[in-house]
Amino acid sequence: MKRTLLITGGAGFIGSHVVRHFVNKYPDYRIINLDKLTYAGNLANLKDVEDKPNYRFVRLDICDFDAVLKLMQDEMIDGIIHLAAESHVDRSIKDPFTFARTNVMGTLSLLEAARRCWQPQGYVMPVVGGTPSETVSLRSTPPIASDGSLPLTVPRVACVSEGVPPTTGVACRFYHISTDEVYGALEITDPEGVEPPFTTKASSGKHHLAYGTSFFTEDLKYQPHSPYSAAKASSDHFVRAYHDTYGMPTVVTNCSNNYGPYQFPEKLIPLFINNIRHRKPLPVYGKGENVRDWLYVEDHARAIDLIFHEGKIAETYNIGGFNEWKNIELIKVLIATVDRLLGRPEGADLDLITYVTDRAGHDLRYAIDSTKLQRELGWEPSLQFEEGIEKTVRWYLDNQAWMDNVTSGDYQKYYDDMYKNR
Ligand code: NAD
Ligand code: TYD
Repeated sequence: MKRTLLITGGAGFIGSHVVRHFVNKYPDYRIINLDKLTYAGNLANLKDVEDKPNYRFVRLDICDFDAVLKLMQDEMIDGIIHLAAESHVDRSIKDPFTFARTNVMGTLSLLEAARRCWQPQGYVMPVVGGTPSETVSLRSTPPIASDGSLPLTVPRVACVSEGVPPTTGVACRFYHISTDEVYGALEITDPEGVEPPFTTKASSGKHHLAYGTSFFTEDLKYQPHSPYSAAKASSDHFVRAYHDTYGMPTVVTNCSNNYGPYQFPEKLIPLFINNIRHRKPLPVYGKGENVRDWLYVEDHARAIDLIFHEGKIAETYNIGGFNEWKNIELIKVLIATVDRLLGRPEGADLDLITYVTDRAGHDLRYAIDSTKLQRELGWEPSLQFEEGIEKTVRWYLDNQAWMDNVTSGDYQKYYDDMYKNR
């Protein structure tokens, strides 16, 4: 095997797309999916890859430091893509402790396990398959080039331990997946009296619709508002501290809202598709005027692949597709798409829209500037939003069994707690 990667949270929404992408694209990588299987984790998301020879699932809590360390040593993990987290803002408002535990302490547990495995070997892990003539000490090979880039395979190195056959080494990497919500909230503005959304030009030169003149760039100061984003921000700081203090080869990305298949129906898009299908009320928070920036989940997985392999050590990259939508406008697109695909008359379900009490501390607008990623690594989203939404709605309508399965059990209680008296 060329590399052995640990993907955490691989049974969740984004994680399952990342696992599928890596398992299929890199048959010579061993992919270990570590997931606790909370309410959000679902192995049915990975049915199509579960029997692949380069895939293994391990049920574990990232907070269980001893077990994580043992797994890393046993499997000789050389790269981590860390997605495991509590991810829903509304739940974080009701239960902040769980978010601090998983997102902060869990990330710290992974970082420390990685440090103990990798630091003694100069952050280079042996890979079986080298030739004896290539043998040198791992400690003598600097894994990081002077420009900060990380070579995928470091030639002419061997394991420092006695008795281990000669090998080549691979440069380790800790990749932390974060969110744009750590930056806080942006204003909705109308420059020179132009009613938003207005057409504007990204620094890449492309035109897009925006609800304001400011965007999240990588150098913005963190201003998280929810317990979810505060916990994610804290974990980002720990990751950077491990680079600065221990030389850990880290990279962090902050992505905008994802949508697509296999998202748990607590988040806006799958929840509303399911409600429209069953003609249930659509609980729109406040006036539906908040703005989110949406990215198709497979485009996020492609970006993660690119950044894992080619991103520079200690850098931050924002990931987003310049695709802002006011919630109420997006909801109308969802209604129109579901109604059309189910053969219902146009506008039949608009009356399901129900304005409910706003979310506490509700961030007004998120808008990612992903120019750096486009300029430095050449990444661009592959799908237009209209295509992505059509694919997504079709997927949920075609996979009602998946939806029925995840909405059985505790889901009804969650739904009542969250929405009944709202
Ligand atoms: P999700 O809630 O769908 O999945 C989270 C996964 O983590 C689940 O499989 C769950 O079982 C697992 N998990 C939770 N606690 C764990 C623990 N203690 N130990 C091991 N596994 C645990 O989340 P998602 O939407 O797929 O988000 C994945 C990551 O991407 C998160 O870190 C999130 O902050 C980040 N992110 C999400 C979005 C988005 O729009 N969903 C946007 C940007 C960044
Ligand atoms: P969500 O999918 O929870 O993502 P996030 O809060 O991380 O952006 O919500 C997206 C937007 O939709 C957000 O502005 C809150 C709003 N929303 C509703 O209006 N009603 C709902 O039932 C949900 C879940 C979200």
